[in-house]
Amino acid sequence: MKIWTRREFLSTTALAAQSKPPLTRPVRVGLIGIGSRGTGLLRTTLKFPVEVPAVCDINETAQTRAAALVEKALGKRPEVYGQGVDDWKRMLQRDDLDAVINAGPWELHSPMSVATMRAGKYAATEVPAAASVEQCWDMVNASEETGMPCMILENVCYFRNALLVLNMIRKGLFGELTHCEGGYQHDVRTAFVSRGGERGPAGTITWRGMHAVRNNGNLYPTHPLGPIAWWLDINRGDRFTHLVSMSSKSRGMNKFVEKNFGKDNPNATRKYALGDVNTTLIRTENGATVTLYHDTCSPRPYDLILRVQGTEGIYMGTLDKFYFDGRSPKKEAWEDPEKYYAEYEHPLWRDLSPSAMGQGHGGADYIEIHQFLQAVKNRTQTPIDVYDTAVWSSIYPLTVKSVAAGSAPVEVPDFTRGKYKTRKPVEIHGA
Ligand SMILES: NC(=O)c1ccc[n+]([C@@H]2O[C@H](COP(=O)([O-])OP(=O)(O)OC[C@H]3O[C@@H](n4cnc5c(N)ncnc54)[C@H](O)[C@@H]3O)[C@@H](O)[C@H]2O)c1
Repeated sequence: MKIWTRREFLSTTALAAQSKPPLTRPVRVGLIGIGSRGTGLLRTTLKFPVEVPAVCDINETAQTRAAALVEKALGKRPEVYGQGVDDWKRMLQRDDLDAVINAGPWELHSPMSVATMRAGKYAATEVPAAASVEQCWDMVNASEETGMPCMILENVCYFRNALLVLNMIRKGLFGELTHCEGGYQHDVRTAFVSRGGERGPAGTITWRGMHAVRNNGNLYPTHPLGPIAWWLDINRGDRFTHLVSMSSKSRGMNKFVEKNFGKDNPNATRKYALGDVNTTLIRTENGATVTLYHDTCSPRPYDLILRVQGTEGIYMGTLDKFYFDGRSPKKEAWEDPEKYYAEYEHPLWRDLSPSAMGQGHGGADYIEIHQFLQAVKNRTQTPIDVYDTAVWSSIYPLTVKSVAAGSAPVEVPDFTRGKYKTRKPVEIHGA
């Protein structure tokens, strides 16, 4: 992946970049929200030459676990914050943090990232980075005003197949792209209803489940949309213009609670806004379309789809197979991917996979944290920047708006304010 030079950073984002030289010491990272995902991110972060002076969580078990992990890895116990829901603000006042990763509830991601940037630190945030369009603009404005980057930790961008396809698109194998399809198709009802432990008493709705109670749309668009946006050069030559979204009826949550916690549990009969399967169509200015699925409350195996269709060929992620007109040996027959991996493996994957293998999400978590920390160390722009962070995340509230309006078309804001026309595509670089 390309590490941006300071000149490129300034010219393509118009940010008042920090005039600081690259760091010659370990990057100092703080973490907020060290629950299930935050603990995974902390473990991954500790694989790199870092210091972790401070961690924050309002849950004591999470605090103790995180402090112990840091102490074991680095020999020094971090200062622990979390005396109340706003204590993270006190942590951001520290002057010994270069970057802060936040992995708490969705609605807190943007306020935490904004405050992180305003405190002069690099922000990394879990997905989705915001729960409203206004929160997306808050991040863009903070990044532009402070010159500090904000990276959504969209690990699917660093999946091996997503990077391979990106490389092959750049080499022209697919011709001109016309359509992509992706989905967050993952039964996550156990994240919506607690099984007991840190997320609350068994059978109660979690913070994440409350989004399903209140909102009907695609609540989790960025996993498939991140790589698709890279493939289509969104914010870098093209942009999403508008979408329409439609949801099925809601059944899965009621079924799940009744089956697991009994029909007398109030959550077995409560009304959930979220339809079981949401389908969204997005159009780009250059005339490509994207179909996006959100299917989190049905019994099903995990599948991100990740299909890309061009004038010369297709990749179908569900099958993990390719077909290219004139190149594939048999007419209209799928090809296995091995020979394409042999020829077009993304250099980032090639360089980092020996260390990444065995790490979270097939190694993608390692690569995404590597990429974030490299940018912090070199004082450069992050490969996923605030405009990507904003537009990918905005799809959640925009689909809710479309569904509520009877699937009416909804415009996608141009968070780059016109700069997408001249911004360069995410480039192919090794580590
Ligand atoms: N990228 C991925 O593959 C992936 C996987 C799982 C989860 N996630 C994302 O990670 C984020 C966290 O999800 P999770 O499953 O770990 O949730 P979780 O509920 O297990 O953890 C959230 C943590 O945030 C803490 N928290 C809540 N409010 C806080 C506050 N005001 N100050 C400090 N800490 C606070 C909670 O105590 C908890 O420990 C979500 O955005 C989720 O969508 C991403």
